Amino acid sequence: MTETNPISYTIIQYSLITDQILQKCSTLFNNNYGVWNNNASLHSNNVLQTGSRVKLGVKRLRELMLFNDRCFLVVAEIRSLEKDQFELIGHAFSTYVNYNRLNGNVVWITQLVVCSTCRGRGVAGTLLSLAKNNIQDVVAMGLASSHPYAVMALCNACNRIPINLKFIADHAKDIIEICKIPYISRSQVIGSIFDKQSSQMVDIDEQPVSLIKTDFFVDHKEVLTILEKIQQTWILGPLLEGHEFVIILPTTSVRRSRTPSNTFSSNSSPLEKQPSM
Ligand SMILES: CC(C)(COP(=O)(O)OP(=O)(O)OC[C@H]1O[C@@H](n2cnc3c(N)ncnc32)[C@H](O)[C@@H]1OP(=O)(O)O)[C@@H](O)C(=O)NCCC(=O)NCCS
Repeated sequence: MTETNPISYTIIQYSLITDQILQKCSTLFNNNYGVWNNNASLHSNNVLQTGSRVKLGVKRLRELMLFNDRCFLVVAEIRSLEKDQFELIGHAFSTYVNYNRLNGNVVWITQLVVCSTCRGRGVAGTLLSLAKNNIQDVVAMGLASSHPYAVMALCNACNRIPINLKFIADHAKDIIEICKIPYISRSQVIGSIFDKQSSQMVDIDEQPVSLIKTDFFVDHKEVLTILEKIQQTWILGPLLEGHEFVIILPTTSVRRSRTPSNTFSSNSSPLEKQPSM
């Protein structure tokens, strides 16, 4: 991949997400998401080997990320001149739901991955910003992730609005429930803002603030190192094994243009036009 080539972004609506596109997302996820930790092998009778890559195939991606027709996908691609092909370097599976309590729509990011060689260049922030702008009358946006940079990318997409813990506390349970995301809709939120502490033994000064218990035992070495570096400014508290941070931010709504820009948003994807990528 030529790093200097421009990145193009495409929004793909639910009915246009083919298995061919999902195959590329699966490959990106399998190569770039993370590895299982010790607990994963304990909880799975050694089926998930410690240190092996977390993987999701096309069928599982469809079940987990495309669970209703409000789900959509935003992809980032680079044109590789050597191969004359588009290469997928990032994706954000997303969904939205009408939320009466705030009188508008909430966008939820169900999976966010950027290729490890393309990180730190604003790709995640742009994917999330496009996901937000794809839906009309968005009043809030959220995600569950163990990665602080995913949280920061969401803040960027929401005009760098400061995180308001009370807003998360007030809306997280309701929004998570109505989004009906298969892998978290019944998960427990944990932390001081929800008045719900973890059953795991943790020091008094290590009490969680805003987490969700997903039992997804991904290795946290990289994110713990980042959290240590940013501890002075990080307000979502510590991360526990098998948990992810929950963040929800209010948004200023952007109405979709009636004449969508070809550069950023379309219903067909270069992914589909380049089957041999
Ligand atoms: C989390 C992830 C998606 C971030 O992707 P990314 O494209 O690198 O993110 P961005 O470049 O948009 O960065 C977002 C913010 O994170 C912070 N950040 C990102 N990389 C950073 C770095 N190397 N050093 C310091 N801060 C960094 C910055 O605050 C940045 O915003 P800014 O550039 O305006 O300051 C990517 O690291 C990833 O795919 N990780 C593995 C999968 C994962 O954990 N996904 C989340 C599960 S939902």
